Amino acid sequence: MKEKITQYQQAFSQKNELDLLKYFVGNYKIKLASSLGAEDQVLTHMLAQLGGDVQIFVLDTGRLHPETYTVLDESAKKYQLKYEIICPDRDKVEAMVQSKGINLFYDSIENRKECCGLRKVEGLKRALSTCEGWITGQRKAQSVTRSELQQIEWDHAHQVIKLNPLADWTQDQVWDYIRQNEVPYNALHDQGFLSIGCAPCTRAIKDGEDPRSGRWWWETPEQKECGLHIEGGQVKRTNNGSTR
Ligand code: ADX
Ligand code: SF4
Repeated sequence: MKEKITQYQQAFSQKNELDLLKYFVGNYKIKLASSLGAEDQVLTHMLAQLGGDVQIFVLDTGRLHPETYTVLDESAKKYQLKYEIICPDRDKVEAMVQSKGINLFYDSIENRKECCGLRKVEGLKRALSTCEGWITGQRKAQSVTRSELQQIEWDHAHQVIKLNPLADWTQDQVWDYIRQNEVPYNALHDQGFLSIGCAPCTRAIKDGEDPRSGRWWWETPEQKECGLHIEGGQVKRTNNGSTR
């Protein structure tokens, strides 16, 4: 599969997102990773339109907002989906919070990364161990760390295909799609939340602020990576030291 990535990138460069999804879902065991954010809701709608066996997993960290669970339930009913809900290892979470505290992530970068590692990254590995590829809602414009995103990539860390169908979409395109197609969305988006992760690590932002500034706001931009989107075991770095 890895050898075919460049070929696929060329073959699909002029095709639309639906064609891309249709081909890969039809030919590989591929799952959408959904955080229930706006982009993932667009992709959920597209996959539901394609029909067939739609596979979507959610990393339920145990610290998501109530609004996120609401849109999860609403989408499951509207699109008749059985989401794969991935929970973190209970024993490890108990040991971590007993030794470091329930809100350990505010105390140090190491603690924050330990929490993300346990509540998100371990679950991702587990979810990807049963498929040949995954689909994400990442867009280039979301962050400097995503400026070189491709629609079709090889995920070296997990040795699977990684599709980012909305890589070139703007935020306006996402919201036009949601409105035109009456796609259910997280109510927090109407309260100033642009990018939504776990409740204690996400906050609303003001108009004009960087889209990622509401995530882990107490950390500097180059540290804002939870480890889901890594390359060769490392978060990619640009020459100026920022992550990408
Ligand atoms: S993160 O790395 O900072 O957490 P972000 O919230 O921007 O990522 O989401 C980017 C993509 O990662 C989403 O579109 C989705 O595909 C995937 N993702 C993020 N969080 C989750 C989650 N809790 N469960 C499943 N997929 C997720
Ligand atoms: Fe833990 Fe915050 Fe990472 Fe969620 S985003 S896994 S609460 S550190």
